Amino acid sequence: MTSLETIVALAKRKGFVFPGSDVYGGLAGTWDYGPLGALLKENIKREWWRSMLKPRTRLLGGQIFPLDSAIISSAKVWQSSGHTDHFTDPLVECKKCKHRFRADHVEGTKCPECGGALGESRQFNMMFKTHAGALEDESAVAYLRPETAQGIFINFKNVVDAFHPKLAFGIAQVGKAFRNEITPRNFVFRSREFEQMELEYFYDPKDAGKYFTDIRAMRMQWFLDLGIKKDNLRFHDYAPDELAHYSKATTDIEYRFGLSQDGFSELEGIADRADFDLKNHFSGYRWTGDDFTKSDAGFVPNVIEPSVGLDRAFLAFMMDAYDEDELAGDKRVVLRLHPKLAPITAAVFPLVSNKEPIVAKAQEVFDMLGGEYTVRFDDIGNIGKRYRRQDEIGTPWCVTIDYQTLEDGTVTMRDRDTAKQERVAIIEIASVFREKLL
Ligand code: GAP
Repeated sequence: MTSLETIVALAKRKGFVFPGSDVYGGLAGTWDYGPLGALLKENIKREWWRSMLKPRTRLLGGQIFPLDSAIISSAKVWQSSGHTDHFTDPLVECKKCKHRFRADHVEGTKCPECGGALGESRQFNMMFKTHAGALEDESAVAYLRPETAQGIFINFKNVVDAFHPKLAFGIAQVGKAFRNEITPRNFVFRSREFEQMELEYFYDPKDAGKYFTDIRAMRMQWFLDLGIKKDNLRFHDYAPDELAHYSKATTDIEYRFGLSQDGFSELEGIADRADFDLKNHFSGYRWTGDDFTKSDAGFVPNVIEPSVGLDRAFLAFMMDAYDEDELAGDKRVVLRLHPKLAPITAAVFPLVSNKEPIVAKAQEVFDMLGGEYTVRFDDIGNIGKRYRRQDEIGTPWCVTIDYQTLEDGTVTMRDRDTAKQERVAIIEIASVFREKLL
């Protein structure tokens, strides 16, 4: 199994992820995504949006509307949602060194840092508080959202008024969330600034039970289709006594991150939140026909929420793709990322870097593919070394322009996973990629 340390080292060495505020000694719980990490994240997001917006998803019963709500939000949002009062962790503080620890992470009454006495356990709110505008008083308090979901709930009526959808329908959002985690740990698995991809799927409560199983299956299939090994994923269905008080059903999709005793930890949560959130923000509102208004008649729509951390998905894709094998007696590191996710789709090499017609032809091929795909040009070192560099960052195909290219307009296309090479006409390369990326 791939260790977290291996991934952290590769991520830094190859420009996927760097520690946040690194030149100033770092800021715990923050990470900067480098050029390859930014591309991989974009590709994961694109695949999530595709799965949400494509017709198959609409077969769940309704359309899915994209949303991009503000990160800084009114204190009233979080008062109504329950986060101001309940989004807390129990903390203990060392009386001597003032270090704080999660109460459930320390044993005994002594500080794990300095051995000083620990104080009483107190609740600590995990939201980042700020002030909007020039005043720094209570009236100007605002919060960085700790989840994207509430942005969806508070816009429920706006979307209904603008589009008049029929139930069931969904609103989906991808964006940053912030939590002042006391003990951020395990690389991007638990950080203070991260991204979420959340769908809220609203339905008529008389259809209870109709959508949960489908959404649960659809989300698991998404990970499998993007290449995560079946053995490394599992469902964890919550028992009735594990459920939040408002939830009718909750299932986690867990991945074998190797960070817990049995190896599995939460990757995505899928919850039927009933009418809890809409009631919090729109007390007295009911769904009447196809409208949402203040009324005694009608009902409050229920909601199912699949919520996945983009950074956690990023880590799962990296860990699952990492492999070490041997090619022609040489050890290599290879990142077997799904071609749809790979940061670089193809690398273009001139066989030699000092023969003008070959270099010019390679440049031409590079420009042609660059219009449609993320491609890299590499003319440094021997071809074997160039292959290894691309294998390590997960590039599925390498295209080499050689002497034969000048004669018949074909190149060698080398496959990352099998290391097999085939000759392909230049005019066909883009369509070969297109077919493989369907
Ligand atoms: N709206 C529901 C919600 O936010 P959650 O279980 O708190 O539920 C959902 O978060 C997902 O967000 C988690 O399954 C995880 O993938 C991701 N997540 C939560 N806290 C995180 C953190 N501190 N760092 C990275 N990802 C996190």
